[in-house]
Amino acid sequence: MFFNALSAAAPDPIMALSSLCQQDARPSKLDLGIGVYRNEAGNTPIFEAVKMAEQTLLHQQDSKAYVGMQGNLRFNQAMTTLILGDQQPYDRVRTLQTPGASGALRLLADLIARTQPHATVWLSDPSYTNHEPIFRAAGLKVRHYPYFDLATKQINHHAMMSQFAQLDTSDVVLLHGCCHNPTGADLTFTQWQQVTELALHRGFLPFIDMAYQGFGQSLVQDAKGVRYLTEHVPSYLLASSCSKNFGLYRERVGVAMVAGETETVSDHMLSQLICLARNSYTMSPDHGAAVVAHILNDIALKDNWQNELYTLNQRIRHTRSALRQALETRFDKDFRFIEQHQGMFTMMGLSADSIKRLRTEKAIYLLDNGRLNIAGLTSSQVDHFAESLRSVTEE
Ligand code: LMR
Repeated sequence: MFFNALSAAAPDPIMALSSLCQQDARPSKLDLGIGVYRNEAGNTPIFEAVKMAEQTLLHQQDSKAYVGMQGNLRFNQAMTTLILGDQQPYDRVRTLQTPGASGALRLLADLIARTQPHATVWLSDPSYTNHEPIFRAAGLKVRHYPYFDLATKQINHHAMMSQFAQLDTSDVVLLHGCCHNPTGADLTFTQWQQVTELALHRGFLPFIDMAYQGFGQSLVQDAKGVRYLTEHVPSYLLASSCSKNFGLYRERVGVAMVAGETETVSDHMLSQLICLARNSYTMSPDHGAAVVAHILNDIALKDNWQNELYTLNQRIRHTRSALRQALETRFDKDFRFIEQHQGMFTMMGLSADSIKRLRTEKAIYLLDNGRLNIAGLTSSQVDHFAESLRSVTEE
């Protein structure tokens, strides 16, 4: 029969781990795998600004008719400004509302495949676990460039630049705009400038994934490197998400942004994206984008949202410091890197055995690649985590 030859698809490592943790009956369990922020009570709250915007929408919205192929234009404009700032000209920038950054990544991958099916997409080693499957699903070749040095817990800048120096116009380089997933190790501004130079010199296409703006230094600082690059290169692709910085995970809110060498090329890129979306889901769901558009276009609400985001950011910073301290009192090692890393994640270089023992003996769930979601830890859990780690790494 039609489907009998199908075998079961491999489960997604992040989502599968999260449901494994949900099924774990041990009360002390900790889900430090999936990239979701939790507050001191261990919850992922809805932003107050989001609640207020939703109330307004509930009262004001008078139709559920289609919004339009490009999505919510106020949302697209506000997101473009949020990411690129208000200093650069936008004549070559085109933005499309997408279902989350994953939706944007896939549409942009399909766009690459339409124009250069033999292109190679270069991902950092390591990168977000869903990057490679998305690009492969679009039929593209994927390779990895050196990025994170597990020994120093820093970027292996020299090796990365040497790899970039060998690329050309058939290559696409995926860069994490800030808060690198899964390592937390970000490019410095100088390194962004150097990557920009190489992109100009070698002609490879920069593709930015910006999923955590505001979770590192600040909304503006986190975008500094991206703004520099996008101001200087003739063409780029960018995927961004409102899952984390607006806490709208399940609403699937994001944008795909493109810039071509001329306005006409940019128009063609956008029209192809719209066509790709139409071929698959027609247009993005409205609600989350309408919420974000409302917040970003209302001075008081935007202020509220920024303050709430700052609170999240500060909690993560405190947790990083507390964790560094808790580990340094138990291990004779330097854990400064935990404070240096940005955003939700860090990678400690734990062995596969330690990761497995944390899961089976302590009900502490980290991704198999060792990614630890700092934003999933509350202060009261920091010592428990550090002590558990000591006990599984003892012998
Ligand atoms: C993560 O990295 O854990 C999140 O972005 C969730 C996802 O969609 O994979």
